[in-house]
Formats: sequence, C-alpha cells, structure tokens
Amino acid sequence: MVGRLTVITGPMYSGKTTELLSFVEIYQIGRKKVAVFKPSLDSRYHSSRVVSHSGNGVEAIVVSSPQEILEHVEEDTKGVFIDEVQFFPKELVDVVKKLINDGIDVFCAGLDLSHKQNPFETTAYLLSLADNVIKKKAVCHRCGEYNATLTLKISGGEEEIDVGGQEKYIAVCRDCYNILRGRS
Ligand code: ADP
Ligand code: TMP
Ligand code: MG
Ligand code: ZN
Repeated sequence: MVGRLTVITGPMYSGKTTELLSFVEIYQIGRKKVAVFKPSLDSRYHSSRVVSHSGNGVEAIVVSSPQEILEHVEEDTKGVFIDEVQFFPKELVDVVKKLINDGIDVFCAGLDLSHKQNPFETTAYLLSLADNVIKKKAVCHRCGEYNATLTLKISGGEEEIDVGGQEKYIAVCRDCYNILRGRS
C-alpha cells in the first residue's frame, strides 16, 4: 500500500512544528518507526532537534540535501517527518514521491509565504502533491485576533531566507500587515 502525504503550512507561530510533533507522537504511541528531519540551514535552538516556539522538541536528523533523507530511512520506517521544508530545494518533492510510493507516510511542515508574501517554491509543490493539507493560523501580533495568515519582518533587512524568531518576525492578519506596511 502507498503512503500518504500531509502538509502543514501557515505563517510563523501558527503551530506547524507543534502539529508535526503531535503526529510524531501518534506514530510513536502506535510503535511505528519514525524518522524526523530538518534542514541544516535552520540553526535555531538545539541543532539536532526539531523544536517549537513553546520549547517542545524531538531528536532529528539534520540533512543538507533532500537525497540525504533517503540514506536514513530504513526498511521498517513507517513515518517520515520533515520540518522547515521551505528551506529545501525543489528536489525534496521527488524524494517525498519516492517515500510515499514506497508505502511510507510523509508529514511536511513549512512556511507557505515569505515575509514579502512570495510563495516558497518547495512548499508550493508539496501542497500540490499532498493528500491532506493543514493550513494553520496564528494570533495576530497587532489586533490580537486568531486570524494571522502572514508573517511580517520587523528587523534584520529584506532577505527572504533569514533564520530567526521573535526578534525578527511577527505573525499578522492581512489588515494589520497592510497597516504596518503603510498600505492603507
Ligand atoms: P510554527 O512552527 O508554526 O512557527 P510552533 O509550533 O513552533 O509554530 O509554535 C507554536 C507556539 O508558538 C504556540 O503554541 C504558542 O505557544 C507560541 N506563539 C508565540 N506567538 C504566537 C502567536 N502570535 N500566535 C500563536 N502562537 C504563538
Ligand atoms: P517557523 O515557521 O517554524 O516559525 O520557522 C520559520 C523560519 O523561517 C524561521 O527561521 C524564520 C525563517 N523565515 C525566513 O527565512 N524568511 C521569511 O520570509 C520568513 C517569514 C521566515
Ligand atoms: Mg516551526
Ligand atoms: Zn490583525
């Protein structure tokens, strides 16, 4: 039987990593072998753990290319979990296709949009391929509503690939994004 692809997406602080970790736990409770990955670019927190903004985490394998993921998947691996997919090149899509065709369930978490509202290419491809899409929201930093779908950069320049947390980024709703960017 083939595996299923689930993609968890949304802005920063929307609980993508938390949701990914809860799926890891579901597999672990079921005594199913898991492999958890993150890209080497994401140096936040402890280097070999996938960690949420609230501090929960699991051990992960840090990889510098999508192909490296295949080297760590074993015969009896039932679930592959990949965080921060926006930092992987597009080749991740072929790796994910191979895994699901080999009968392994794959869970990917990552940003859909940069702080400039440009789609992250790898996440966009994975969303097209997904059997199940979970789109998360965060609490808007400005108005306090649970409707933040965007991330705004508040310091550190304009770059669209720039690892960081609350010192650089806030989650906002579209109205507040436009207000804070002086668009309305
Ligand atoms: P993501 O991977 O999407 O950035 P995480 O799962 O790492 O999200 O973090 C989610 C946690 O972040 C929440 O459980 C909450 O404790 C915290 N948090 C901080 N800022 C916000 C916010 N603006 N909206 C919602 N949760 C927030
Ligand atoms: P998070 O979604 O788990 O909070 O992590 C997102 C990471 O992506 C974080 O390190 C900041 C980074 N990032 C960018 O590199 N560019 C961006 O445009 C945004 C919004 C975040
Ligand atoms: Mg995360
Ligand atoms: Zn708002």
